[in-house]
Amino acid sequence: MVYRITVVGAGYLGATHAACLAELGFEVLGMDVDATKVAALSEGRLPCYEPGLEPLLRKHIESGRLRFTTSYGEVADFGDVHFLCVGTPQRQDSFAADLSYLDAAVEGLAPHLNRTCLLVGKSTVPVGTADRLASRVVELAPAGELVEVAWNPEFLREGHGVADTLAPDRMVLGIRTERAERVLREIYAAVITAGAPVVVTDFSTAELVKSAANAFLTAKISFINAMAEVCEATGADVTQLAAALAHDPRIGGRFLHAGLGFGGGCLPKDLRAFIARVEELGVDAAVALLQDVDAINTQRRTRMIDLAREQCDKTFTGRRIGVLGAAFKPNSDDIRDSPALHVAAAIQRLGAQVTVYDPKAMDNARAQFPLLSYADSAVEAANGAHLVLHLTEWQEFRDMDPVVLSAVVAQKRMVDGRNALDPAIWRSAGWTYRALGRP
Ligand code: UGA
Repeated sequence: MVYRITVVGAGYLGATHAACLAELGFEVLGMDVDATKVAALSEGRLPCYEPGLEPLLRKHIESGRLRFTTSYGEVADFGDVHFLCVGTPQRQDSFAADLSYLDAAVEGLAPHLNRTCLLVGKSTVPVGTADRLASRVVELAPAGELVEVAWNPEFLREGHGVADTLAPDRMVLGIRTERAERVLREIYAAVITAGAPVVVTDFSTAELVKSAANAFLTAKISFINAMAEVCEATGADVTQLAAALAHDPRIGGRFLHAGLGFGGGCLPKDLRAFIARVEELGVDAAVALLQDVDAINTQRRTRMIDLAREQCDKTFTGRRIGVLGAAFKPNSDDIRDSPALHVAAAIQRLGAQVTVYDPKAMDNARAQFPLLSYADSAVEAANGAHLVLHLTEWQEFRDMDPVVLSAVVAQKRMVDGRNALDPAIWRSAGWTYRALGRP
């Protein structure tokens, strides 16, 4: 059967999923309650920067395989399979996940479901959510038990969304019936044939795979950042330490990059939501481990501020600081929980004049941090600076010639928060180069 597919929630995850399913040959209807977003997407415009996604979106708006709407009724009429891709941010009042968008999507859609269909959750949720939503859907939907739920967590990385969706490193199918498994295998047939390993499991395991994957990644980053502190106390070099560890295939080199720590719209809030959930479940050993991972990460930002102050001869008052990077990572314009902007804003509050430049995230940064100054290039941000901070490792900054910056700065001092610049090149151009975890 050729399924007609809907994707509820047209944010970063939903827009990527919708465009990729159209690319796999399906007719897709994307849905969002935000009419402005729907209007932009319908014209082939993405509300965020994601390499490769806008051309795919345009291609399938033009091919007619992809449309967007704000109507739950239209979604219910159109789709055989409905993917739920709405956000689950951190709650304002606690570490827990805010499930209000997901609940609203189910409450909005289910009353229109009057025939056999499959609802597939992709959002990151606390374990137990899929089970709760499955009961709620049967209560609300006119088709009752003909509406089934499955959980199919998403593992894509910003900046690699299209590739990670079309060629994922694994596919986790949380299902309760053979029918749900069959439908999902048919939808992902091309991806599975191309080699993606499939794990078929129950709802709780599927939900936990996602939480555990992100928790493991954060633990790996915080582990190497803890080692960076040990390196600083001993004069060792954390980048060489990590390179040596990486030769052990049991450890591996990825996500072993020491520096300012992790940020973004996923890892920090997913770690905290997981802490809140395991606390509720009373699993003390896991709570303690995850809390340490979070605490080590937060301390990186403080450590960066301390190192910057030290390089400003112990005071920020009256100092000009050029900040390179605002996005939470390169190849993204996402500034959610960005370590770079956290540090920039804190240093400004402590008395420095801070000027920020980022290749893609300037509009978002200006909107959220209007009191910081902004420049149109790295050279302009560094103009007159007593200290330059490298906080997001864009290729443009890695390729920068220190001699060019030397001509505009007041003092040749660089603190590399991402351990991504070559100290030898900067030092030979006469700069004082400092980094977290290196002599
Ligand atoms: C993360 C996961 O990597 C994805 O697998 C997951 O699907 C996604 O969250 C999600 O839950 O939706 P993403 O938020 O795009 O993806 O970002 P990452 O590439 O994981 O980077 C996160 C942060 O960790 C960045 O601030 C980055 O600078 C930092 N990082 C990463 C390090 O500090 N060191 C490293 O070695 C690696």
